[in-house]
Amino acid sequence: MADAPTLARHPSSNTDPAAGQPVIELEAVRKVYRTGTIEFEAVRNVSLVIHPGEYVAIMGPSGSGKSTLMNILGCLDVATSGRYLLAGEDVSDMDEDQLADVRNRHIGFVFQQFNLLPSLSALRNVELPLAFAAVPREERRRRGRLALERVGLGDRLTHRPNEMSGGQQQRVAVARALVSDPALVLADEPTGNLDSSATEDVLELFGELHAQGRTVVLITHEAEVAERAQRVIHIRDGAVASDGLTGGTR
Ligand SMILES: Nc1ncnc2c1ncn2[C@@H]1O[C@H](COP(=O)(O)OP(=O)(O)O)[C@@H](O)[C@H]1O
Ligand SMILES: [Mg+2]
Repeated sequence: MADAPTLARHPSSNTDPAAGQPVIELEAVRKVYRTGTIEFEAVRNVSLVIHPGEYVAIMGPSGSGKSTLMNILGCLDVATSGRYLLAGEDVSDMDEDQLADVRNRHIGFVFQQFNLLPSLSALRNVELPLAFAAVPREERRRRGRLALERVGLGDRLTHRPNEMSGGQQQRVAVARALVSDPALVLADEPTGNLDSSATEDVLELFGELHAQGRTVVLITHEAEVAERAQRVIHIRDGAVASDGLTGGTR
């Protein structure tokens, strides 16, 4: 087994009938930012298909368009042109309210800065997406507790973010991302603020999610992080430079 990942062509395509409906389908997506009279194309003609259960890293240097792409994939922003189907639903022309609804139903987010509410306990933070989805309180508690147990924090339910380490806070964020049972877990530089031991914990957690059949898309500028995924998409200057399976099986 090679330590260095060998890149092979990704075998999936949106015409493969055995693969089922893709979670993500981008067709010729572009994002143009306008500042005054100056236009900048941050995402250029990106087409890609991600199937259920895939663990994909999107990798590229700073300024290559990763966050712009993440915002589109996460329905936080819409493309300037092209088409985006999320779990079969065309979100390309949705308005703010419709996008918020799609996010709540389909996507769990993990961010570099954890984005936990400081005044709430771990359990309350994890329950939040369910509160937005109007899940009854007892059910919220039960599912929140379960999600925290799954990330190894069953003994930290009542701790607030400032009473936990960075690694623990990011595991709370992962529990929050999972609690609504989303089709897609989307993480933007999730280990960017963690030391090497906490990074290892969080990456192990993503590996477990993948082993459980979750679809995980992780955005990173670090090769060691990207190598943990099953498939790595490199972006350069807003375009896909390469897309292949890693040789590793861990
Ligand atoms: N809101 C914006 N307005 C104008 N340009 C932007 C905006 N957001 C990002 N950019 C530009 O788009 C490019 C890609 O940015 P970004 O997606 O944040 O890259 P990455 O996450 O890979 O560092 C950069 O050149 C950046 O300056
Ligand atoms: Mg970024």
